Amino acid sequence: MTIASPTSPSSGSGTASVAAPTSPLSSWTRKHLLGLEDLSAAEIMAILETAQSFAEISTRSRKKVPALQGRIVFNLFFENSTRTRTSFSLAAKRLSADTQDFSTSASSLSKGETFIDTAKNIEAMGADVMVVRHPTPGAPHLLAQHVKASVINAGDGAHEHPTQGLLDLMTIRKAKGRIEGLTVGLLGDIVHSRVARSNIWGLTKLGAHIILCGPPTLVPRSMERLGCEVANRLDDILPRCDVVNVLRIQFERQQVGLFPSVGEYSHFYMMTEERIRLARPDLLLLAPGPINRGVELTPEVADGRHSAILDQVTNGLAVRMAVLYLLSGKMEARTTQTN
Ligand code: CP
Repeated sequence: MTIASPTSPSSGSGTASVAAPTSPLSSWTRKHLLGLEDLSAAEIMAILETAQSFAEISTRSRKKVPALQGRIVFNLFFENSTRTRTSFSLAAKRLSADTQDFSTSASSLSKGETFIDTAKNIEAMGADVMVVRHPTPGAPHLLAQHVKASVINAGDGAHEHPTQGLLDLMTIRKAKGRIEGLTVGLLGDIVHSRVARSNIWGLTKLGAHIILCGPPTLVPRSMERLGCEVANRLDDILPRCDVVNVLRIQFERQQVGLFPSVGEYSHFYMMTEERIRLARPDLLLLAPGPINRGVELTPEVADGRHSAILDQVTNGLAVRMAVLYLLSGKMEARTTQTN
């Protein structure tokens, strides 16, 4: 299996299949990507380096490579998604895999079929990779115990969203040239955020200092146990941050109101032009999306000079290509069954 190398003489020519880069593929040992908590710093760096190669391929006129030809990638999304689902589909297509989206609303789940039975039936159609988003933390881990396919966690409840964490790391690294030694603020609804957890694991493993900031009900002091600083006053910590990742208020995961009103939340925690003036001139502003304009960020800030929100989406495609490519080396060879 080959992918085009940025160092190859063929770079930029649009050639689809040339010599592989000094590929981390040979040393990659994992079949599933379930979370960044499980990965070492070296494994995270291997994904980021591979993603960098795929980002270069995406600038060519011919963007498709044959790395996953003959493989089938199934998207099983039990929660809504704009970015992650389409990005995985496009990543699989760019690697020449066949892709199929599973629609929960039109499925036999409504007739009582279980999650595992559903997945086993999809596997019986030849799925090599299952990309799973589920509201229940641990659902992808459970699936990985029951199917032979590679499982990729595309977000499980408030637990992890590893490819979002990786694309955030890639965006920071491209903008700042490093991760180690940076101070990164994670702002907002930390307690319900799978993006926050994947950011915490990824950033701390690569040597960043993390400040979790938000109201005490959304940022419990106990999160200091994860190696982070916890703060409640954004205006105090903003001047120290190289990066701020603005997380969405997840109203759908809150059982009771955890702050008095949206207006009050915005007053203390919304990123505004006025607050940007408190920050470093080279502040990098991230948000995983979807964003609530006028709640977490003003439209001017969301679209402003510090924002890398759409760069994150672009980098997400390269990260998902890298993950599919690396896991493909560990997919079990499937036998063709003939009756
Ligand atoms: N950031 C993210 O996961 O977006 P989607 O919910 O649209 O996939």
